Amino acid sequence: MENKQGLFDSIVNRRRSNRRFNPDIPVPDAIIETALQHAILAPNSSNMQCWEFYWIRSAEEKKKMAAYCLGQGAATTAQQLVVFVTRADLWKKRARWNYDRIKEGIPGEPNKLQKRGLDYYKKLMPLAYASDWLGFLTLIRRAISVFGGLQKPFMRFGGKADQRITVHKSCALAAENFMLSIAAADFDSCPMEGFDAVRVKKALNLPRGAEINMIVGVGKGTEQGVWGPRNRVAFEEVVKTID
Ligand SMILES: Cc1cc2nc3c(=O)[nH]c(=O)nc-3n(C[C@H](O)[C@H](O)[C@H](O)COP(=O)(O)O)c2cc1C
Repeated sequence: MENKQGLFDSIVNRRRSNRRFNPDIPVPDAIIETALQHAILAPNSSNMQCWEFYWIRSAEEKKKMAAYCLGQGAATTAQQLVVFVTRADLWKKRARWNYDRIKEGIPGEPNKLQKRGLDYYKKLMPLAYASDWLGFLTLIRRAISVFGGLQKPFMRFGGKADQRITVHKSCALAAENFMLSIAAADFDSCPMEGFDAVRVKKALNLPRGAEINMIVGVGKGTEQGVWGPRNRVAFEEVVKTID
């Protein structure tokens, strides 16, 4: 495949957070749909895909959602709005889904590698994702990690916070794929975490285990929508070479 780094560079540089979209330029649904297809292709922890993407299409719901984004310009002027949601609570369903995909591809007895794949979703995922009110499972997980890690490198399983971080990391990668896709289509976006999560969750009828990762407004950006130069801390300050 030819080197596409130049093209990628132009897309990465094209994407800026824009907080004021042109009200006269709509964003075709096809562009959002393609960007959502790209979001789905994001790398994600154990391919568990504990995420959902709520494309807010009704004008009334969009208005409500913009108010829940605290009236930010990036939401009130957005032509399209997508809410990125984590669904750690769906872990059993997703583990089963992955297990079934592997199983489907095995006509007879699984070989060693296939068995490892099946065990991953049947045994390891419950260990990573299961939780209980009193935190006993977290204690067990930590104990397993401490003992398992005494002699050799071992995956350090944690508690609820670690589980939340896992699903939020993956969901944010999906959001980035989405925003880069929007930039590639020559439109603009703005990710937002400034919102009333309680109200957004209620409006989307989400269960307790769901969390709002970010809300992304999309439109044709304007000059006023870019608040300034793209300042970044110096490369040398954040990139550490370990020689
Ligand atoms: C998780 C996340 C949450 C953000 N929340 C908001 C927000 O609520 N409102 C806003 O105007 N910008 C928000 N931003 C945009 C950042 O301010 C912006 O990405 C940063 O200033 C860098 O600018 P750039 O995106 O143009 O490169 C958010 C960005 C991220 C990644």
